[in-house]
This record gives sequence, structure tokens and C-alpha cells, in this order.
Amino acid sequence: MRLTVVANRAPISRTEEGDWVTSVGGLTTALLPVLSDQGGTWVAMGEEPDLPEQQDYPAEDPNFRVRRVPLSQEELDGYYYGMANSVLWPLSHYMVQHLDLRDEFFEHYRQVNERFAEAVNEEYQEGDVIWMQDYHLTFAPALVREAHPDAVMGHFWHIPWPAMEVFRILPGARKILRGMLGNDLIGFHVEEYAKNFVESAEVLLGAEVERPEGIIHWKGREVHVEAHPIGIEVGRFERMSESDKVKRETEEVREEFGAESLVVGIDRLDYTKGVLSRLKAFEEFLEENPDYHGKVSLFQVATPSRTEVESYQQLKREVDEAVGRINGQFAGDYWVPVHYRYRTYTQEELCSFYRAADVALITPLRDGMNLVTQEFITAATEQGVIILSELTGAAYLLPEALQVNPYDQSGLAEAIRTAIEMPDEERRDRIRALKSTVADLNVHRWADDFLDRLAARREGS
Ligand code: G6P
Repeated sequence: MRLTVVANRAPISRTEEGDWVTSVGGLTTALLPVLSDQGGTWVAMGEEPDLPEQQDYPAEDPNFRVRRVPLSQEELDGYYYGMANSVLWPLSHYMVQHLDLRDEFFEHYRQVNERFAEAVNEEYQEGDVIWMQDYHLTFAPALVREAHPDAVMGHFWHIPWPAMEVFRILPGARKILRGMLGNDLIGFHVEEYAKNFVESAEVLLGAEVERPEGIIHWKGREVHVEAHPIGIEVGRFERMSESDKVKRETEEVREEFGAESLVVGIDRLDYTKGVLSRLKAFEEFLEENPDYHGKVSLFQVATPSRTEVESYQQLKREVDEAVGRINGQFAGDYWVPVHYRYRTYTQEELCSFYRAADVALITPLRDGMNLVTQEFITAATEQGVIILSELTGAAYLLPEALQVNPYDQSGLAEAIRTAIEMPDEERRDRIRALKSTVADLNVHRWADDFLDRLAARREGS
């Protein structure tokens, strides 16, 4: 069964030396083995004008093809920074204050989706399975369906699907639903999002639906809507975190920061991740707990992301300011309360941070899943405590984490204290249970399960 993956980002990139390498992201590591094994194509945007539209990879002995949809700067602005990241992203995360609704965003997004669909249609061979990814590609499924009524097509939505009453705020909400209903199977991380999608189709399009099966009847076809929680590449993270190099680096991190207790936060710098509220909660913790001055530090890593979007630039300024304020007010002669790094790290370096942490502070204001949580848990020692926002997909699956409402600043400040003071035995029991759940959520299992369900859809079940 040949596979066509359709995603915004390509699975390979060029190094500074000009060599091609596969990306390290979870989606790539899950799907490239399948593509290499069964053959097929990965369709993605082409951000750089000089890259070829078709590239067989690896060059010396190709086992799959990358097909690019080259985008002009104007298209990239409207489709990616605009509609995808200034409209669908904030809306799906219930952050309507960040919505930037402009007609030209919608128009560019529609055109780029048409071009993605054309590329898929050109690469498609009878019997292929097509797997679309995420919120960048909501119109493409219906367009591919028109050209290939018998194609088997699935879509995984990696972020939350909001409550119907929030989704309907979007001008064009119905068009987006019609586009998505070109698929045979639509996957979400958790049941809640699947239910929201089914309700959106029922109320906004008047589609007939079957509950609890999650079936939508649309244009004489069935669209199945299911929960498929994604995982990480557990084996690789286990191996990395147990390596001598990472263990050595963990010691170095502990020495460098010097605090008795180290609280760690690792995020893309995105307003959904709750970094600013987390800093304010840590500030409140310091105000309320003078005994801990000089003993507890927060190490916050923020990875630069979508830096062209104004709300991301604004957030960066606010975070810089909050870090400066807290350190200005509380720092002692040999103690820095907040160590902040605005940069990208390798996965190995991240593993050493995960292991160095006494407490992981993962407090998104909303998150489809949050894979950092799973990485933390996998790499953590038996001493690591996980504080987790209850507004993440991960929270549905990980009851043994210390769950908090990320909007409750005082509750969060209190949870930091609870985590630091948690007895060893309780730490160990909780992290063991968490490790066992995360091991089962393996990303390879996720991909296999979704592809099995797609194969079943081909058989009509
Ligand atoms: C989220 C989305 C992904 C996206 C990633 C990084 O996890 O679900 O589709 O790739 O963020 O964002 P970026 O805009 O840099 O691709």
C-alpha cells in the first residue's frame, strides 16, 4: 500500500554544508519508515525558491519522493503566517484575542490548498492511501476527493478542535468543514476534540451523525471521526537519556545553576504555552515563600517560533520583561531565580535538562497533546515531578501528573511548593505510572493504528 503524506513541513532539510538530512520531529520519525518501506510521496510546502519540485530521496538509492509546492513570500504570509497561524491556531486554542481576520489570508490559504491538492492529484496512483496532516490543509481533502472519488484519505488534526460555539466564530467555518469532510477518517488526540468536530458538522452543516460511533454521513459517504493519541519515539528518548554523554551534561547543568531544587520549563515561544503566566506564578511562589530564596531556580527554555507574527513578537518582549523584573527583584549574590534561554537545543541537550529537573513545569493555556510532557516523563529520573496543565490533551491520559489550572496563578504557585516538597516515595510511584503510560503511547504504534484504520476504511468498515 503506497502512501502519500501531505503536510505543511517537508521531512528533509539541507544542512549548512549543503547535505540533505531527515528532520528529527516525531511525525517524520513515525512516517518515514512506512514511506521507505512501502514507497510513496511526501507533499509539503517549498519555502525556498531554488529547491526542486520533485526530489527523490535519498539521492543515491531513493525510497520515497518529496514533492514541494513552491510558495511566494506573499503566499507564505497569507497561508502560513496568516490563515494557519493567525486564525486557525488561536481559534482552535480558544484564544480569540489573537485572531487576525483578514480576507486576503483566507484567499491565499484557499489558493495554496488548491495547489497542494493539484500536487497530490499529480502524484497519486490508483490504490494509494493519502494521509493529510493538521490545520494547514483543510480545503485540500475535498479537492482531492473531487478528482479521485475512490481514494482512501485520512487526516490527523494535531491541535485541539474547539467547542462548536467557538469554531462557529470563524467566517468560513462551514467551508472549512466541507473541505475536511472530503476525508474518510479524521483523527484527533482525544475524544473531546472528536466530539467537538462531530457537533460542528451536525450543527453547522446539518449533517446526519451517529454517536457514539463518531460517524458523519456526508454526500453519500461515511466520514469516521476517532481519537488516536500520539506518542513520542520512546526507545530513542530512553537510549539518549541513559547515555553517558547526557548523564555527564545533566551534572553540568546542575552545577551551572547551583540551586538545591531546579524547576524546568521547555516550550516553543508561543502564547498558547503559558510561559508568561508561569513566570508570574513563579514570582508569586517567591513572594509567598522567602524560605526558598537562594534554593529554588526556574530554568526556562523558549524556542523561537513564527517570529514574523506580531503576537509572537509581543510575547517575546513581555517574557523578556518578566524575567528581568523577577531577577531584578529577587536575585541574591550567588543565586539567580530565573535562567532564561531563547534558543534552539538538540534533543540530547533537552534530555539533559529533563533529567536535571526536580520539577517539570508544563502549563500551556491550551495544547492539543503536548509532547514535551512525554519527553520529560521518558527521560526523567525517579525523582522528577511533573506539573501539568489540565487544559492539554496529555492531561486526559496522565492522571498521575500534578494537574493544575494554568489560569490559576495562586494554584500554580502552590503546586510548585507541593512538587518541591513531595516525598521521594510519592515521586517514584507517580513517575513510574507515567512512564508506563507514555511507553504505550509510542509514535510508531500511533502511525500503525491510524494506517490500519485507513486500510479498514478501504474495506468499507
Ligand atoms: C504544532 C503544529 C505543527 C507544527 C508545530 C511547529 O505542533 O501542530 O503542525 O509543525 O506546531 O510549528 P511550525 O509553525 O514551526 O511548523
